[in-house]
Amino acid sequence: MQAQADAWRREGQHIALVPTMGFLHAGHLSLVRLARERADRVVVSIFVNPTQFGPGEDLEAYPRNPERDRDLLEAEGVDVLFLPSTAEMYPEGYQTRVSLDRLPQHLCGVSRPIHFGGVATVVIKLLHIAKPHLAVFGEKDYQQLLVVRRMVRDLNLDVEIVGGPTVREADGLAMSSRNAYLAEGQRPAALTLSQALANARKQVAEGERQAAVVIASAVATIQSEAETAIDYVKICDPETLEDISEIDRPVRMALAVRVGHSRLIDNTALLPPNPSSSASAQGETP
Ligand code: PAF
Repeated sequence: MQAQADAWRREGQHIALVPTMGFLHAGHLSLVRLARERADRVVVSIFVNPTQFGPGEDLEAYPRNPERDRDLLEAEGVDVLFLPSTAEMYPEGYQTRVSLDRLPQHLCGVSRPIHFGGVATVVIKLLHIAKPHLAVFGEKDYQQLLVVRRMVRDLNLDVEIVGGPTVREADGLAMSSRNAYLAEGQRPAALTLSQALANARKQVAEGERQAAVVIASAVATIQSEAETAIDYVKICDPETLEDISEIDRPVRMALAVRVGHSRLIDNTALLPPNPSSSASAQGETP
């Protein structure tokens, strides 16, 4: 992969990387198309990264279908599918890890304390392996996008990080490989996430400024379905992820909710009317 990337770079070709864990859906393919628009060569990696799964999480159960993924990527005209083994990525004697001090202490990092260190570690490895000029990540994993951006800035990595908008099913459910865990009948519970976010956007657009009020409405929407168990419902600063209490500027709302065996996450920008700073700076697609 490195030799191929070096050859492309010598020819002056622009390389884009889309890192994934496979079991691809339309959300991933939208990232691939974004990459295609921005680069001459597109590399997609598929690697279910063990270092970002905590004990008792779904590493073994994580859905996999590399043959189908390969066909989908071929149809998208992807130049390279990089599909390393765990032994290639973490050979005997491997002992290096990247960690961030503050961003992982919020949102998903609270219940998944090793997750973002594992993500940062594998992403920096993938960047050094595929040597892309730009790498594309979904906004659905908003905290991950911030972690990767922060790492790239902090470590002076020469790569542009591009965020791609969340792609949703027709009924509003954010696309995720983990939606495969949803049992029949759990759909109404899963839909409470996007419904809670849509209600919150409306409340804030209509002038509600108290984060606690917006959070209470979201909690009520989610708990209206018996099969939901809330991990968190937060309204936070869109850069630091610190909690905010007054919505007097564009902020981020993020949710994590268990529905049966699935832990679902979703997020949105909340844009108050006539905010002091530009709403479009948050780049949200409702
Ligand atoms: O978002 C994912 O699929 C993974 O966290 C990533 C970025 C490929 C790192 O393993």
